[in-house]
Amino acid sequence: MTASATKAAALNLDLLRTVPFRPSPNTVLVDPLRPLETPSEEFGTLRTNLAQLKAERNIRTVLITSPSGGEGKSFAAANLALAEAQLANNPTLVCDFDLRRSSLHRIFQLDRSPGLTDYLLGRAELPEVIQKVGAGSLFVMTAGAPVVSPLELLHLDETRRLIEILSSRFRTVILDSPPLGSASDANLLATLADGALLVTRLGATRVDAMGLAIQSLGQNNVLGIIANGGPRP
Ligand SMILES: Nc1ncnc2c1ncn2[C@@H]1O[C@H](COP(=O)(O)OP(=O)(O)OP(=O)(O)O)[C@@H](O)[C@H]1O
Ligand SMILES: [Mg+2]
Repeated sequence: MTASATKAAALNLDLLRTVPFRPSPNTVLVDPLRPLETPSEEFGTLRTNLAQLKAERNIRTVLITSPSGGEGKSFAAANLALAEAQLANNPTLVCDFDLRRSSLHRIFQLDRSPGLTDYLLGRAELPEVIQKVGAGSLFVMTAGAPVVSPLELLHLDETRRLIEILSSRFRTVILDSPPLGSASDANLLATLADGALLVTRLGATRVDAMGLAIQSLGQNNVLGIIANGGPRP
């Protein structure tokens, strides 16, 4: 058995630490009790569209990125993960691969560390960096302690192996990431994920920036575009 396979086998989702679902009051999140309200309905539709793509191809890991900052990547990653986790037999993990402006820990009001970077640097084991949030099947991996060179860390073989392990243990893995325009983190992550969803902020994202973003992802599977019309902060 390879080291990755051993780690995957050791990751028992039932034994992971469970924390309450108590998101930040500053964030608008899917509410399972109000399926017809914003943004539950929109993310339900996105989940259905994604399910069609999943049925056609083997898609487990989905990168969320966008051309520029503040377009709603983390908002979309958290909400899509919540919508996915509502389905039966669909354990869903959302990971904060934005090591520059990490925010999943704030959205879910969790500790940032231990998280992804701590695992990649060998300072924490996998079960220590994944938390089950609430009573359903949503799991969150926060970004971990800040690092000086995020891109270097993402280039490690360990990152690729981690994504393989995660996709063998979860039905859906959503990766939040930095914008394409500011660093190459998301371009690299797109080569490791099964596909990417691009977020655009209606009325803010420029068409030429979107064109460049798609071009920069090149062959790497753009699954679709999320048109985010929400208010800016
Ligand atoms: N559709 C929406 N409805 C309400 N609030 C939204 C919506 N989209 C984004 N926001 C809010 O706008 C702010 C910026 O969104 P978010 O942090 O998701 O952007 P981002 O693309 O991840 O930014 P960054 O590039 O800094 O990582 C957040 O406060 C978020 O809660
Ligand atoms: Mg973000």
